Amino acid sequence: MEKILVLDFGGQYNQLIARRVREQHIYAEIRAYNRITPEEILQQGYRGVIFTGGPNSVYDESSPHYDPAILNAGIPILGICYGCQLMAYMGGGEICAAGEISEYGRIEMRHTGGALFKNVPEESTVWMSHRDYVKTVPKGFTVTAATAHCPTAAMADEERRLYAVQFHPEVTHTECGKQILHNFLYDVCGCMGDWIMADFASRQIEYYRNKIGDKKVVCALSGGVDSSVAAVLLHKAIGQQLTCIFVDHGLLRKDEGDIVEHTFAGLFGMRLIRVNAQERFFAKLAGVTDPERKRKIIGEEFIRIFEEEGKKLGKVHYLAQGTIYPDVIESGSENASVIKSHHNVGGLPDVIDFDELIEPLNTLFKDEVRAIGKELGIPEALVMRQPFPGPGLAVRTIGEITPEKVRTLQEADAIFREEMDAFGWGRRASQYFAVLTDTKSVGVIGDERTYGWTVALRSVDTDDFMTADWSRLPYELLEKVSSRIANEVKGVNRVVYDITSKPPATVEWE
Ligand code: XMP
Repeated sequence: MEKILVLDFGGQYNQLIARRVREQHIYAEIRAYNRITPEEILQQGYRGVIFTGGPNSVYDESSPHYDPAILNAGIPILGICYGCQLMAYMGGGEICAAGEISEYGRIEMRHTGGALFKNVPEESTVWMSHRDYVKTVPKGFTVTAATAHCPTAAMADEERRLYAVQFHPEVTHTECGKQILHNFLYDVCGCMGDWIMADFASRQIEYYRNKIGDKKVVCALSGGVDSSVAAVLLHKAIGQQLTCIFVDHGLLRKDEGDIVEHTFAGLFGMRLIRVNAQERFFAKLAGVTDPERKRKIIGEEFIRIFEEEGKKLGKVHYLAQGTIYPDVIESGSENASVIKSHHNVGGLPDVIDFDELIEPLNTLFKDEVRAIGKELGIPEALVMRQPFPGPGLAVRTIGEITPEKVRTLQEADAIFREEMDAFGWGRRASQYFAVLTDTKSVGVIGDERTYGWTVALRSVDTDDFMTADWSRLPYELLEKVSSRIANEVKGVNRVVYDITSKPPATVEWE
């Protein structure tokens, strides 16, 4: 199998680089720069190496350096950002601080050709984010691209198959980034593209089967995409040695608890413990209206239940979680201010007596996890599921939570989802749901005055959920949903559509 090494110098886009390589059907592995020598790189048969970016300046004493022998090892290398500067520095070039004119963001670049720029227009937009730049290229290299403020936006030594770019080809803002990486992988490294997602799944299954041996694993299953895929993958690896715990807090969407049980216990034959804790959660939430308190209560109760269930299982060797790569980045951002205390299963490691955490998906992005889910035979409806917050309908039932209000919301939400699918919008919007506002208003049915709840519909389009726009749903669809909810859901007499983007609003109402 062809593989590319992503040599990690501490940049923020390292996983993204690996993902871009995988997208082009070539397997990519990330290794820390100080964990693999040039000899090992050659022995392990990598077709090429990508030096990642990094936060340092090559002249910092503590900055990561690499053995210059790699430049003469005969293996193709692509340096990106810091990787570009490091390559220049290792080869005897000169690096300079950009000072006032450091570049950040979308910049116009002009190239002069070479293997890396095949099928790339002479002028194109690239994404820059740097303070230093290469002032003089090392012996054997020529400058192959420049911007207004960066004399070496790219350099190459075609003979030794060494290439470097100051910009980031892996981010989508670089117009021709995909083509540039394709040129490196296929033309320079000579890859044929023999890798598919199914290989990842079978490698992981094999790996965990060997690693776990005859030990026990517990997995917290929420029915969401990530934990479902992690659980099925491990189930394929170790079968009944895996126990999944699924806590039904009564705040799931209509029929969702049963669907999860039916899918995992029924379809896959997994050992599944469903904890029906609806009453416990409702009791704890009675009278609580503050959104943050709701989230805290639910998070804490979740952990308490796991603790109880965990104790029943005795000693567990491994705790499995469906952490995916974006979760790893998010939990790494120490300075971000808390807008909402997001709740997944973060507190579990503290309350279950286990030896090791396993996170089989922690190098993957959401769409890759979905692709694996499909490979593993998880039903489409589950794999393509839209995000659902851990505290569930508690943050979509504004004000006090009662079982009756939650039931009302479940009915309205089910109608909305049904009609979104019927109108062909189910896959077009990124996330959509109903909210039970805490407002009642006057209405009329026949000759009768009514005084009922207002349901808000929310549908957003987004790439990353950090910002979002409201979906321009067709009037006919809104009309149908509104009329069905007002007619079919007892206690609701008014339906409104939320036309606020994020920011200033958030996706969820609480
Ligand atoms: P907001 O409301 O913060 O939501 O704009 C952004 C995305 O995150 C989801 N969300 C959560 N996901 N636990 C989760 O796992 C949570 O506590 C949580 N709160 C919000 C939300 O549904 C949207 O997709």
